[in-house]
Amino acid sequence: MKDYNLIIKSNTEIAQKVFRMKLQSQEKLPQFLGGQFLHLEVPNRILRRPLGILKIDNNIIDIVYAVVGEGTFELSQLKERTTLKAMLPLGNGFILPQSYKRVALLGGGLGTVPLLPVINTYNDIEFYSYMGFRSKDNVILYDEFYQHSKHTVYATEDGSFGGKGYALDYLKKDMSSIKFDAVLICGPIPMMKAVQKADLKVPVFVSLEERMGCGVGACLVCYENISQYLRNRI
Ligand SMILES: Cc1cc2nc3c(=O)[nH]c(=O)nc-3n(C[C@H](O)[C@H](O)[C@H](O)COP(=O)(O)OP(=O)(O)OC[C@H]3O[C@@H](n4cnc5c(N)ncnc54)[C@H](O)[C@@H]3O)c2cc1C
Ligand code: FES
Repeated sequence: MKDYNLIIKSNTEIAQKVFRMKLQSQEKLPQFLGGQFLHLEVPNRILRRPLGILKIDNNIIDIVYAVVGEGTFELSQLKERTTLKAMLPLGNGFILPQSYKRVALLGGGLGTVPLLPVINTYNDIEFYSYMGFRSKDNVILYDEFYQHSKHTVYATEDGSFGGKGYALDYLKKDMSSIKFDAVLICGPIPMMKAVQKADLKVPVFVSLEERMGCGVGACLVCYENISQYLRNRI
């Protein structure tokens, strides 16, 4: 884990209020595990913002972020050639046993971002991707999941893109004929609760995107949030 100076190469809106940013490093960037994140400086803000690493290729990092508040709005206004500091890679990522052969990915909204690089981390595993969004205006990363997964299902709540309804329901249906070694999930709290209720009978690995302070294990903000999450929300 290290702090890097990154130069914005592009910052493009790819769905409603969702941007993909490419950041170039002059230094060699490290390898990362799917599910790890970076802690990105935002001009004029004290706290950095945690964002999943989508891809690192040729010392260029791709991130995808939704504009939800002042920090991400400021990020969306930044122009090419702006320099930002980012610490990476942070977090544990998804660590899977070598014995796994077939794994399902279940993502909701921006929770799809940290799941995509898991596919490239484990070349010997077949990944089946189930990604859910509210509507076609929110859909992201379809081509990438389609290209890299053994099987891809996109679902929208209103049926305007892919299947109608929840991605979890499509996963449950496939589980009657396909034996998965595990399910990896990242998404909004209602999706997590629905997964718990569904009792999938296979190991489930979860990535939480709760609020953070330092990002490196020093301030306990995330521990407090996660404990609260476990106590109250599930
Ligand atoms: C490990 C990790 C990985 C993440 N990866 C991504 C990603 O790849 N793409 C992405 O778009 N977002 C991701 N997030 C969420 C992202 O960090 C927040 O949306 C962002 O920090 C909000 O900053 P802001 O200044 O715009 O919002 P603020 O002004 O701080 O808050 C505005 C609104 O956003 C909500 N919010 C703030 N922080 C979070 C959070 N961590 N999670 C959910 N809602 C939040 C607040 O409750 C509030 O309603 C990740 C979070 C974590 C912890
Ligand atoms: S954000 Fe986790 S300890 Fe600071």
